[in-house]
Amino acid sequence: MSDMTTARSAPAPDVPALEVRGVRKTFEAENAPVRALRGVDLTVAQGEFIAVMGPSGCGKSTLLNLVAGLDVPDEGAITVAGEEVTGRGEDDLARMRRRHMGIVFQFFNLLEGMTVLENVVLPSVIAGRKRKMAETRARDLLDLLGISDKASAAPGVLSGGQRQRLAIARALANEPTLLLADEPTGALDSAGGAEIIELLRRLHKGGQTIILVTHDPAVAEAAGRVVRMRDGRVVSDDSAAPGGSGQSPASRAAGATPAHAERW
Ligand SMILES: Nc1ncnc2c1ncn2[C@@H]1O[C@H](COP(=O)(O)OP(=O)(O)OP(=O)(O)O)[C@@H](O)[C@H]1O
Ligand SMILES: [Mg+2]
Repeated sequence: MSDMTTARSAPAPDVPALEVRGVRKTFEAENAPVRALRGVDLTVAQGEFIAVMGPSGCGKSTLLNLVAGLDVPDEGAITVAGEEVTGRGEDDLARMRRRHMGIVFQFFNLLEGMTVLENVVLPSVIAGRKRKMAETRARDLLDLLGISDKASAAPGVLSGGQRQRLAIARALANEPTLLLADEPTGALDSAGGAEIIELLRRLHKGGQTIILVTHDPAVAEAAGRVVRMRDGRVVSDDSAAPGGSGQSPASRAAGATPAHAERW
């Protein structure tokens, strides 16, 4: 890890990347309250790649938002790398997010007024990493994701698949404990989607813990584990999904860091 430890140090290998316990979330709506999550329990080990599936409105994005600390549960507890996400103040939560979460949304969220490189450098600088170090890592990531030739371009000139790869590069800038992605292939054509699936596979092989919300069975197949939700609950949890390559926490602990391209 050496020069990459300014953002965070890796959690002990036996600590789950994520623990969700008894989480409930109700939204106040005009007519009746919407019980989006009705008691969710979920444990994800370090190095796992899980796909969360289920019908529209079953609570997938709500769960992801709570895990990311973008919203708070009404009841229950969430810990990431052994640290409580729930019950923190805004500043503390923001710090925790920078340390542990890489978030990829369906609709990219790129900074259009900056170059591709700058989009990846910025999160690390915000997290307190030295500019030169942040830039070195950003270039490594762009290289790894196959868009290094676009480093000085504006995000606007990229294809959909390239934009999504940039969004993933940005999410990985701080070596997050969790890569959280909500429908990362939802806005892409099938070729663009296939690129992203391949990329996620490689990240997983390199030890990255990934939690992915998807409607796409091809994406889910790349994951080692499929968690299905319905009406605000987890209704099945299949760790033996075909195509999975479930990785032990130990292999993550062996020093898999996204900085080391040869591991991908
Ligand atoms: N901010 C909010 N205010 C009110 N209701 C909300 C809010 N966010 C989500 N909901 C409701 O909570 C339920 C779960 O929504 P959520 O976005 O988690 O579903 P989802 O499983 O991600 O669906 P999709 O597959 O369509 O993205 C839905 O009924 C939704 O309308
Ligand atoms: Mg959703």
